Amino acid sequence: MTVFEKAERLKKLPPYLFKELDRKKTELRARGVDIIDLGVGDPDLPTPDHIIEAMKDALENPDNHRYPSYSGMNDLKDAVSKWFERRFGVQVSPETEVVSLIGSKEGLAHLPLAFIDPGDVALIPSPAYPVYHIATMFAGGESFFMPLKSENNFLPDLEAIPSEVIRHAKLMFLNYPNNPTSAVAGHGFFEQVVRFAEKHSILVCHDAAYTEMAFDGYRPPSFLEVDGAKDVGLEFHSLSKTYNMTGWRIGFAVGNQALIEGLGAIKSNIDSGVFQAIQVAGIKALTHDQSCVKEMVEVYTRRRDLMVNGLKEIGFEVESPKATFYLWIKIPKGYTSAQLTTKLLEKGVVVTPGNGFGEPGEGYVRIALTQKRSRLEEAVQRMKNITF
Ligand SMILES: Cc1ncc(COP(=O)(O)O)c(C=O)c1O
Repeated sequence: MTVFEKAERLKKLPPYLFKELDRKKTELRARGVDIIDLGVGDPDLPTPDHIIEAMKDALENPDNHRYPSYSGMNDLKDAVSKWFERRFGVQVSPETEVVSLIGSKEGLAHLPLAFIDPGDVALIPSPAYPVYHIATMFAGGESFFMPLKSENNFLPDLEAIPSEVIRHAKLMFLNYPNNPTSAVAGHGFFEQVVRFAEKHSILVCHDAAYTEMAFDGYRPPSFLEVDGAKDVGLEFHSLSKTYNMTGWRIGFAVGNQALIEGLGAIKSNIDSGVFQAIQVAGIKALTHDQSCVKEMVEVYTRRRDLMVNGLKEIGFEVESPKATFYLWIKIPKGYTSAQLTTKLLEKGVVVTPGNGFGEPGEGYVRIALTQKRSRLEEAVQRMKNITF
């Protein structure tokens, strides 16, 4: 059999840190162990009925069976623009400043192909969603990792970026509310980012997948609320977590017209847009009354409180997050992230080791609140039976 050599870009992929974890999970399952999986950030709640109904109707319409427009249906881009103005008070032109995406991951992964050349640097937070680094690498760029530390409230220290790196920097990825740390960023930080980007001609790509999953009345801002942000950046949004639609694959990017055009040019040569029936469902999600979002937030608030209180009783150091369905937990002394993960796995509780998101994540594990309260209670109970 011919052996086909893989491309260099695949050979350069970082080692898959969850391989060992996956192997152990499979082994435990095979032994009949009841596993409580708090590892994956995928909502366990169903997509709301009104969105499913809209999709069903749209499926019956043959117009929706054809190739969609690359940038998205006009009605979707209109719905996005109106939602954006209602939610953040920011105007984006539906014709030129919005593009639909096959999930925000797709857009984040394609953006570097549009703006990064070999030798260019992308400034990437660490720990972070792995796509930013991998997409930069696929485009032939170099990643410079900006550590997110608890003493800086998990915001990158822009002053600490060496001037030599800044000279080659073309793009900066940011993500607030943040996965995996659950940190949030306010206007002050975004203001600082925009001034930095203007000064050094750096394109800002803000991943805002979790803005709607926020608690206790907190409303995370858009990066585009800052004066001048639209001159330097784009923001990526997702319907995945807001409306429990992870499997549907729909999101959008908004912001600077030239950047939207660049991303659109890559996309139109690679994909053919979002299935129209899904776009119709997305329009329903964005334009219908938003009580389903409120209900989703209430569910996660109760789960967050249960889990944070339980973990504190055990003696863990954990902040109650203002947003996202993640808890970023400092691990007890004497353990690495991997060792604590293994210890919890032996009790059938799956968490994600923090270093899986980048070296500065060592010393933490991430829990996703994607299980019913009874299962979270059971997880706390099992952890109480461990001596740390
Ligand atoms: C920070 C972050 N950005 C983007 C995504 C991708 O979301 P989507 O389903 O819209 O591709 C995720 C998914 O987990 C995420 O955690």
